[in-house]
Amino acid sequence: MGALIEANRICKRYNQKSNNMELKETSLSIEKGKIYVIEGKSGAGKSTLLNILGGMEKPTSGKVYYKGKSFYDLKDSDQAAIRGEKYGFVFQSFQLIPELTVKENIELPLIFTNRQEKMDKIAELARHLGIENQLHKLPDFLSGGEQQRVAIARALITKPEIIFADEPTGNLDSATTKKIIHLFTRLCNEKNITLVVVTHEKNLFEFPDNLFLVKNGRLQVAQENV
Ligand SMILES: Nc1ncnc2c1ncn2[C@@H]1O[C@H](COP(=O)(O)OP(=O)(O)OP(=O)(O)O)[C@@H](O)[C@H]1O
Ligand SMILES: [Mg+2]
Repeated sequence: MGALIEANRICKRYNQKSNNMELKETSLSIEKGKIYVIEGKSGAGKSTLLNILGGMEKPTSGKVYYKGKSFYDLKDSDQAAIRGEKYGFVFQSFQLIPELTVKENIELPLIFTNRQEKMDKIAELARHLGIENQLHKLPDFLSGGEQQRVAIARALITKPEIIFADEPTGNLDSATTKKIIHLFTRLCNEKNITLVVVTHEKNLFEFPDNLFLVKNGRLQVAQENV
């Protein structure tokens, strides 16, 4: 089966004048429905790699293919459509809108798409995530773990093919981290969603399909299952 996303010899250098390559030549193939975990220390280049894969940051050189199409060679509007409809994002700082209720936060991505018929029901998602009683609250009145579950619901509402998560449990205690990861794994497996997670934590997932390590901007395979 063809890869969902394929990175071909991508590099990133933020400062054109410096010799320092923040992400050194990396090639990576991401298959549908699998879980990819990329570990690494602070400053190693994890977010850089995730942002390039997730269509948010153009690499200095190399290509990223989404279903065989060179993503950064597409028109801006086509790039935005793929990001909005096929990709979901979850961040360490949750990035919920404080003035909107939980329900409104979850619905937010739907404003940018018109695929009414494909959307998951909010109530069902909220039930899956155990936040069905929080829908009318403002995010400030939720715990960190609850806020992250809202962010996960927001990422899932458009039924994305792939979710990119940057330190999704970075602000949570270890018990909540376990719960969130368990939930993430179950939902992605059930819905056949691909998950790409970057984290500084070791062994965040018990059974990732593929485990990588970024060290000084270089990606290394730590464990690969076929
Ligand atoms: N927008 C930017 N402009 C210049 N340099 C940047 C930019 N973003 C990241 N860098 C540099 O690139 C390197 C990798 O950063 P990156 O954010 O990818 O690391 P990270 O592994 O995600 O770290 P952390 O775990 O702290 O989030 C760092 O040296 C950082 O200073
Ligand atoms: Mg980072």
